[in-house]
Amino acid sequence: MILAANFKTNHTRSSTQKYLNDLQNFAQKSSHSFYIFPPATALSESTPDVRVGVQNAFFASKGSFTGEIGLEQLQEFGTKTILIGHSERRHVIGEDLDMVRKKFDFFAQEGFEIFFCIGEKLPTKQEGEASVMRYLQSQLDGIDVSYEKLILAYEPVWAIGTGVSATNSDIETVHKNIKDLSDKPLLYGGSVNEKNFAQIAQIPNVDGVLVGTASWSLEKFLTMIG
Ligand code: PGA
Repeated sequence: MILAANFKTNHTRSSTQKYLNDLQNFAQKSSHSFYIFPPATALSESTPDVRVGVQNAFFASKGSFTGEIGLEQLQEFGTKTILIGHSERRHVIGEDLDMVRKKFDFFAQEGFEIFFCIGEKLPTKQEGEASVMRYLQSQLDGIDVSYEKLILAYEPVWAIGTGVSATNSDIETVHKNIKDLSDKPLLYGGSVNEKNFAQIAQIPNVDGVLVGTASWSLEKFLTMIG
């Protein structure tokens, strides 16, 4: 399975380094694939068994984009993995579809491994499965879903950081439908924790998990994985 930890705006350089070293010790004995996405200030080179990705970057090598980092800054750390389309970037920071697509195109062109997040808000979910799929499909419009280094993550917005994950049957249905659109690895994210991980991991078409809150303490993250 792919096990990815999204630190969001948590951890410092030193705590990330410790986390990475300790996770590497664990990962070298594990059959899972591990990724961490620390804040940009804590980026570092990947270790043999833990890939370090960036949570966000601008679609340029360098230039005048105050507050952003570009390809040149990522190259300093050998970063070749990026998270694009996370719900907090879309709905808190305000990235629209056009911005998300530009980032996808730029980093795909550069050969990055792209974790691409999609997910509906609660009102769409309440309208039923057809609405959810229409919405998810709209988020994939203009995205090359056959890109060889694409990893999709289904993260319903209402489940992120709320402690309420999607039900197993919701995950199973949506993942099956997404697999009809793309055969790329598909992660589930949204309140994955030590109570629900084992069950979610067994759902068909779940190729891994993208974990926020429950990943910030490495001890808890490893207990969760079991
Ligand atoms: P959560 O976050 O695990 O805290 O719900 C998941 C994510 O945003 O990737």
